[in-house]
Amino acid sequence: MLEISGLCAGYGKLPVLRDVSFSVSAGEIVLIAGENGAGKTTLLQTIGGLIRPTAGNIRFEGKDVAGTIPEKLVPAGLRLVLDGHRVFPELSVFDNIRLGAVASNTPKATFDGAVEQIFSVFPILKEKSRDKARSLSGGQQQMLALAQAFVSQPKVLLCDEPSLGLAIALMPPIMEFLRTWAKTGTAIVIVEQHVDLALTVADRALLMERGSIVFNGTADEFRTGGDKNA
Ligand SMILES: Nc1ncnc2c1ncn2[C@@H]1O[C@H](COP(=O)(O)OP(=O)(O)OP(=O)(O)O)[C@@H](O)[C@H]1O
Ligand SMILES: [Mg+2]
Repeated sequence: MLEISGLCAGYGKLPVLRDVSFSVSAGEIVLIAGENGAGKTTLLQTIGGLIRPTAGNIRFEGKDVAGTIPEKLVPAGLRLVLDGHRVFPELSVFDNIRLGAVASNTPKATFDGAVEQIFSVFPILKEKSRDKARSLSGGQQQMLALAQAFVSQPKVLLCDEPSLGLAIALMPPIMEFLRTWAKTGTAIVIVEQHVDLALTVADRALLMERGSIVFNGTADEFRTGGDKNA
């Protein structure tokens, strides 16, 4: 579904990503772990079209999309959810969800079905659907950010630190939701500091250090390797 090879990117003359290669299949959840400043956000933003790579390929369904802008990637089914649960605070919860579908031209029937699913997983969004998004708690705004992405039914979801600023207790339902979502065939790449939590749903895990991938294996291998390194 997604195949990254030899990817390099940075900011101005500052190189950050160095020769990054990995792939993600349909229905698979891949965790990207790494310390602060390792380049995880830069990697997601480069795949999501916000940063133009200086070298390498990003193949999405076999087609090279390196350097393609998000306005084209989103309708094609590749979607980035930025960290810090960014939603439109002055719009209602429902309008925020609706905007998620506008960017991707989701057909009405698909949208209606997706909204039903979201409301059944996160009933609080249904209860508050007419309230302004700013009245939601941080955890609820993260659910909303995921709902926005979910209604566009992407083939690839890139999710940067869904736990950022949230009480850890709010995370299990969000991880569970990602697992259910992946079962529909969506390829999910998630960056998460709470590695143990993310490993409960991830199929594979990558470790980034200074812009490079230094480990790529199954979630079990990652756990075992982590214990050895500790
Ligand atoms: N907008 C920017 N302009 C210049 N340098 C940047 C910019 N954003 C990030 N960097 C630098 O790029 C490197 C990688 O940062 P990045 O945000 O991708 O790391 P990260 O792994 O997501 O870290 P964190 O865990 O803190 O989110 C760091 O050295 C950072 O200082
Ligand atoms: Mg980051």
